[in-house]
Amino acid sequence: MSRVKLLDREFELSIPEEKLLKAVDQIAEKMNRDLEGKNPLMICVLNGSFMFASDLMKRIDVPCEISFVKLSSYEGTGTTGKIKQLIGLNEDIKGRTVVLLEDIVDTGLTIANTVKQVSEMGPAEVKVATLLFKPEACKKEVTLDYVGLEIPNDFIVGYGLDYDGYGRNLKNIYTVVE
Ligand code: IMP
Repeated sequence: MSRVKLLDREFELSIPEEKLLKAVDQIAEKMNRDLEGKNPLMICVLNGSFMFASDLMKRIDVPCEISFVKLSSYEGTGTTGKIKQLIGLNEDIKGRTVVLLEDIVDTGLTIANTVKQVSEMGPAEVKVATLLFKPEACKKEVTLDYVGLEIPNDFIVGYGLDYDGYGRNLKNIYTVVE
């Protein structure tokens, strides 16, 4: 499929599955070297990261655990403005190596907020892995320890990412046709 229609928009193929899986392979290889002996807790930030997390975990061969979190749609008001609360993390992460698994870093606000909330729970270290990164869109200073692919600042769907709820099931990534 070189084009798909979701709701009112057309999307064209931009990153085929093979290229995504090669990027996942590279992240996994690096993690297997870095995380040896650290007993990391992987944290999959739902919803978009489920496919990346699933393919990545199959390639990780150091002992590790995985947990799944969401950012609430409710926005609480913090000192720095509106922040979404992290929900679903029931593990005690004190003293542990935590690796956040993100589908995409766009403006960087979501990952910066997530890193902040997780850091406040006392882990030994927090690492960030993102399959996709839009450098031109990023407004926050965040350390990305593992980046699969850098991509242009265009709206995409597929491989977990959605347009208004649709397209998460697509195995390739597609870019909106303007
Ligand atoms: P950020 O806070 O701007 O970095 O955006 C993070 C979240 O926005 C991601 O976890 C995605 O859920 C969503 N997002 C960002 N860019 C796209 C895109 O191109 N397509 C679909 N969802 C996106």
